[in-house]
Amino acid sequence: MIVSLIVAAGNNNAIGKDNQLLWHLPKDLQFFKQTTWAMPVVMGRKTFESLGGKPLNGRINIIITRQTNWSHEGVVVVHSLADAIFYAKESDYKEVFIAGGGEIYAQALPKANKIFLTRVDATIDGDTFFPEIDSSDWALANEVTHAPHEKHAFGFSFQTWLRK
Ligand SMILES: NC(=O)c1ccc[n+]([C@@H]2O[C@H](COP(=O)([O-])OP(=O)(O)OC[C@H]3O[C@@H](n4cnc5c(N)ncnc54)[C@H](OP(=O)(O)O)[C@@H]3O)[C@@H](O)[C@H]2O)c1
Repeated sequence: MIVSLIVAAGNNNAIGKDNQLLWHLPKDLQFFKQTTWAMPVVMGRKTFESLGGKPLNGRINIIITRQTNWSHEGVVVVHSLADAIFYAKESDYKEVFIAGGGEIYAQALPKANKIFLTRVDATIDGDTFFPEIDSSDWALANEVTHAPHEKHAFGFSFQTWLRK
């Protein structure tokens, strides 16, 4: 089972503030959709609610919460990260995508084999962060850089990191 983290983080590893993203980068949203399409996507309850209460279409949405009475139409509810990964594995998927937020990334990083990191070339004040990627554990396997341009206020790089 490949456990992949997928995230967009600024130069200071900020990923969000007030339960919202810090930027609007249409090409990154497109990359996220293409990469996760038809696959299981795991999110913390707060990230799911930040989407406006609508599950991501075309994907299995697995939501992690400690609340035993929380439910939402169109999503699978679990109570631990291990159960989320187990659900994806039992459903015969070869890869599961962990899509945040900060709490879930921190718990998932030690279990991950792969990170799809969009490094946004901006240092924005945030209240939620992605953990530091330790280069003794992780190798940068691929990187495609985009300069800022129309509709994209910041430059960004699509990076793929693999566990060494
Ligand atoms: N830039 C990006 O790529 C990106 C991606 C995703 C999210 N974000 C941002 O990240 C922020 C949200 O992140 P966050 O850290 O505040 O919240 P989060 O990780 O999305 O969700 C936290 C919630 O997950 C549940 N949870 C966490 N650990 C658990 C465990 N071990 N067992 C059971 N349930 C557990 C709890 O839900 P209950 O409280 O219901 O128990 C907890 O309150 C937002 O600003 C969002 O926009 C950014």
